[in-house]
Formats: sequence, structure tokens, C-alpha cells
Amino acid sequence: MTEIIDGNAVASEIRDDLTDAIETLAEAGSRPGLATVLMGDDPASQTYVNMKQRDCEEVGIESHHVDVDGDADPEVLYDAIADLNDDPEIHGYIVQAPVPDHVDYREVIRRVDPAKDVDGFHPENVGRLVAGDARFRPCTPHGVQKLLESADIDLEGKDVTIVGRSDIVGKPLANLLIQKADDGNATVTVCHSRTEDLATKTRNADIVVAAAGAPELVDGSMIGDGAVVIDVGVNRVSADTEKGYELVGDVEFESAKAKASAITPVPGGVGPMTRAMLLYNTVKAAGLQED
Ligand code: GUN
Repeated sequence: MTEIIDGNAVASEIRDDLTDAIETLAEAGSRPGLATVLMGDDPASQTYVNMKQRDCEEVGIESHHVDVDGDADPEVLYDAIADLNDDPEIHGYIVQAPVPDHVDYREVIRRVDPAKDVDGFHPENVGRLVAGDARFRPCTPHGVQKLLESADIDLEGKDVTIVGRSDIVGKPLANLLIQKADDGNATVTVCHSRTEDLATKTRNADIVVAAAGAPELVDGSMIGDGAVVIDVGVNRVSADTEKGYELVGDVEFESAKAKASAITPVPGGVGPMTRAMLLYNTVKAAGLQED
């Protein structure tokens, strides 16, 4: 029987633990505050931002939101960032990606106070993570680690193949999993669009993490018997549904499930964990700013 790793259940436990920590901080006079910044009106981004606001409410984090017109000069966004950096009630914030084409996201990230960078995207935080001294683990990689831990999957000495080399998932996850840590010590292969013979590299892995942003790229023929499959993909593909689309992962679920010992579904796998770890980082930021 293949275990279906339930991200909603694990995320719910994490939120319960955070709720207690948040009340302790609030009683000491510092209720954690998270802000979301959205430039433009991308519908998927709006949905994500709304979900993050709702998550905050549920656990007792004060949520704030800043909208910036999609046609505005980048300076308008920079001013909003400077205000958040100066606001003592905001312990952490994120600038939802993607930003419009005329805005350089790297420059945006450089302007975020690293102590409030709960995405973990600022170069200082990336450097600390690579050096084995992470302040904020990026939310999706951290969520993947927590899911593996929840399913009692020991990474020590295991072969992990990550499909995807993004700055927000593939690269930081590879860095975390190779570290000398309780949830590390893995041997990691990072594959991408130019990888030759991807199927051999995934088939030889004990754990496959699909994070390429390519709908159903990884199918059962690419999974070794008894491997663990973590699907980070969230792809909107057009479908004859009420919304006109459906969500599919980077893994073809049924064929991969037939080979795997454990697998995450989409939705209900990594997605809720990413959101829970954003709350976790916000609580951590608030704690660090208290000290
Ligand atoms: N867009 C898609 N994923 C993310 C994320 O983790 N953080 C931010 N800021 N934007 C995103």
C-alpha cells in the first residue's frame, strides 16, 4: 500500500503548535505581524495572498496587506518596502512573485530587511542557508523537509533527485538536504530542463522531488520501486470545470503512486505546508526581533 502523505494534516498540527507560541508572544506584548505585498492583479497571486491572510487570522498573527498598482513606477513598490522595514508592528513580509515585467524582482528582494525576509530570499539569508546557518528556511523547502519527517523518512545516505533548479525550491532544498543535520546527510542530484536522461536519474533515486513547474512531467515509468515522491508542482491547466482550469502537479499521480512507497497529492500535499512554514517564519522573526 502506498502511503499518501497528508499535507493538510501535517500543516494543521504545525498551525496548532504556532497558535500557542503566538499567544505567548502576544501576552508578552508582541503579537506577530505579517504583511503581504502584491503588485498588479495576477489572479493566482491574489488567491495565494488571500489564503495567507486567512492563515494568519486562524493562528492569531496580525495580517496586513499592501496593494501596488501594476503600472506603477518601481519606486512606489520600493517606498512600500521601506515603510514595512520601518514599521515595528510588521515582523515579516513577503512581496508576492511574479512582479510585473518592468520591475526587477532581485532588486526588490535586496531592499527587504533581511530580518523581516520571511520568504528567505534576500542574498544575506541565501548565503546563511548555504553556509549551514539559516535564519529563515524558504517555506517550500522547509515544508518538504517537514513532510518527509512526518512520514518518518530518514534521509541519511539516501539518494535524492530534485527535478527543478529554481531559487525558491530546487536550489535551497538541495542545500538543506546535503547538510550535516538530523534531516540532511542525503546525496542530492539536481536536474533541470537541460538534463540528459532525466528518467535514469529519477529512477535511481530513493526520493524524488518534482519542482520543475511542468505539468505531470514525472510519471510512473520514471520512479523506482518503493521510492518516495514529493510533488511540489502547482500547475493550472485548462479543463472543463467551473473555473475553466484544474490544478495538477509535476507528477502523474496514478502511475507514480503505483510505484511509490509514499507520495504527496496535489492539492493537499506540499501547498498547505508552504503556507504553514510562512507562519512559522513569521513567529520566528517576531521572536528574533524581541531579543
Ligand atoms: N510566488 C510563488 N511562490 C512564492 C513564494 O514562496 N513567495 C513569494 N513571495 N512569491 C511567490
